[in-house]
Amino acid sequence: MIDLGVGRKISTIVISTALGHDGRGIFPYTTQRDYGDMVRAANLSDTTRISKSFTRDKRRGNFRPFRPWTWKYIQNLGEDGMLNAYDLTNRGAEVHCRQIAETMSLGIPVIPSFFPEFGKGVGPATKDVLETIAMIGRNEYSRREGGFWAIELNFSYPNTPECVADNVEAAVQCVKGVKRHYPDIAIIAKISVVHPLEFANRLREAGADILHSANTVPYDLLFSDKSPLAKVGGGGVSGGPAFEFAFEYNSRVVDFFDGPVILGCGIVDDDKLNAYFEMLQQKRPDKNWSLSVCTAALRRPEWVERKIHEHNLKLKRVCSTAEGAGDEANFPSKRIRFAE
Ligand SMILES: Cc1cc2nc3c(=O)[nH]c(=O)nc-3n(C[C@H](O)[C@H](O)[C@H](O)COP(=O)(O)O)c2cc1C
Repeated sequence: MIDLGVGRKISTIVISTALGHDGRGIFPYTTQRDYGDMVRAANLSDTTRISKSFTRDKRRGNFRPFRPWTWKYIQNLGEDGMLNAYDLTNRGAEVHCRQIAETMSLGIPVIPSFFPEFGKGVGPATKDVLETIAMIGRNEYSRREGGFWAIELNFSYPNTPECVADNVEAAVQCVKGVKRHYPDIAIIAKISVVHPLEFANRLREAGADILHSANTVPYDLLFSDKSPLAKVGGGGVSGGPAFEFAFEYNSRVVDFFDGPVILGCGIVDDDKLNAYFEMLQQKRPDKNWSLSVCTAALRRPEWVERKIHEHNLKLKRVCSTAEGAGDEANFPSKRIRFAE
């Protein structure tokens, strides 16, 4: 579990993306019993969820939920895997910030994930992040303690015209700019296996509070044949087939970020989860880390529900009887002033 003090906690198991833009579940998955049970377990246990990423303005990607011929952009792969070239279809910050604030009003811990469009230039992309933070912050629900305190900046979406491998400098400038305006909002920087390991270090120096590694692995890095989604950039692989590659990268990247980390990509069964527990117990005995699952929540929700019961519900019981430690010096002020 990550604990930054003053109600700023991230559960040991985090659900990334798989509960949608509002963090409450994705239709039509919500009609499936196992997925519904997992969402309920997540709500009861204060399981942190990171929203699906959105952009400042409405954006049309490849996959569109109400256009069945676009469903091919999300495919299942063997070994509990997925291949997707979703490409950030979303309704824009106004809509998703309102939805996220509604989720926070229910007491559900959700962290917004925002995609800065560096194709516009670093300045305008950073301005978009600042506007988005102000939008969520203006809502009375998100101002409650434990409400809005962190934002994920997604620097790692593989299926976009902006090439993620080239965005290192832009991301560093963006983190600095956001931190200058909102020192008390924790920044979670989400990176990709295509980024150099030093990127993690640069992000930390720029002010990122938490590292999230890694996003999906580009198809071509894992397979020698042509991707079924070659026409749209090849797509990103997640779940079982991505585990080995991502685990190798993540085992190294933790040495380049001396703050809390959320690690994942490919965690779909007990063996893979335990490999992370072992690695982190060795490298991070301070226990200030969490593990993220996305594909498992879509393909094996009953397994994710069990892991939530084992790790997050147990933690909730421990925390309710003991004072959370936390490093309050990091975030001395509880009241964050948001731009009007
Ligand atoms: C269908 C689908 C959509 C995704 N959308 C996003 C997204 O909007 N933003 C993001 O940062 N990651 C996104 N991801 C990546 C996941 O959050 C996660 O980092 C990645 O799938 C690796 O973890 P996993 O193997 O547990 O799925 C998506 C993954 C899938 C399968």
